[in-house]
Amino acid sequence: MSKVYKVAVVGATGLVGSKMIEVLSEHKFPVGELVPVASERSAGKIINFNGKEFKVVTPAEGVAAKPDIALFSAGGETSRVWAPEFAKAGAVVIDNSSCWRMDPSVKLVVPEVNGDILDGKEGIIANPNCSTIQMLVPLWPLHKLYKIKRIVVSTYQSVTGSGMKGINQMTRERAGVDSTLVNGVPAYHYPIDKNIIPHIDSFADDDYTKEEWKMVNETHKIFNDYSIGVSATTVRVPVTGGHSESVNVEFEKEYDLKEVFEVLKKTPGVIVQDNPAENVYPMPLFAFGKDEVFVGRIRRDRSVKSGLNLWVVADNLRKGAATNAVQIAEQIIKLK
Ligand code: A2P
Repeated sequence: MSKVYKVAVVGATGLVGSKMIEVLSEHKFPVGELVPVASERSAGKIINFNGKEFKVVTPAEGVAAKPDIALFSAGGETSRVWAPEFAKAGAVVIDNSSCWRMDPSVKLVVPEVNGDILDGKEGIIANPNCSTIQMLVPLWPLHKLYKIKRIVVSTYQSVTGSGMKGINQMTRERAGVDSTLVNGVPAYHYPIDKNIIPHIDSFADDDYTKEEWKMVNETHKIFNDYSIGVSATTVRVPVTGGHSESVNVEFEKEYDLKEVFEVLKKTPGVIVQDNPAENVYPMPLFAFGKDEVFVGRIRRDRSVKSGLNLWVVADNLRKGAATNAVQIAEQIIKLK
């Protein structure tokens, strides 16, 4: 019999955690036993997985269960406290929060880009920010060919990136119920329906947001190239299906646009949707529920020597979170 693994999902009742459980099942990950973990509030709830029922447990009970792999998506504080405990108990932790991403001893991994740095001996592995992941999957093969000098990116991020409370706020606004308060906690500072909010995560000292800094720092760490200039503006939009990004890139070397199309078409995890004559381009409506990153509106930026514009869309709960984490786990078990 081939090996099966005990897999904990910490944050199993949340938006990303439940997607992780869905993706584990869809990818036929060899789960022998699922250990769904959430807060005390949810302990005892039942989660269905592959036709079987599993009881939600607290983090302490999750550690005591000694899972082989623990996928975390329960917020930064839970990861800070509990990821090391799970790792100490022998689990390989794949953490979706931003807590461990910039720790020099923790690998930050997008399998298509730098999956080769994994050796199977890791304690905690960090899953990058959703917006960073979908930007880097198509940029990596282009960086290898033409070397990126500078990236200017603006994001259009789905409310699903804020967890259940983001969806709840928009749903309530659309139903005409009080606009910003959900259980007394606002997801956003302003109404999100019929609005666009240029503010994700908190502001840093330099008036960029932490979300914008994640795109800068994580790009450097994942590409292992600290010379790339990255300027990001991250924006929340009233959309549920996925994140979209306008990505402007300047390369050091000249490129051939036909070659860019050919390279992207061959890149694992990328689907090119680009046919202006037929109004074909990526949109969250079509990316929703898919594991791939969709790229279109591919065109030369004539305002600089070697510039390129791309429109990049992905389901942020999948490739931006759950799918990337499960793909890391798939790579880990190959190394075990
Ligand atoms: P719970 O449902 O018990 O609150 P989302 O981001 O979609 O709101 O989901 C957050 C996830 O993180 C939920 O599964 C939530 O569990 C879980 N969570 C929140 N706080 C803790 C905690 N202190 N310990 C364990 N899980 C937590």
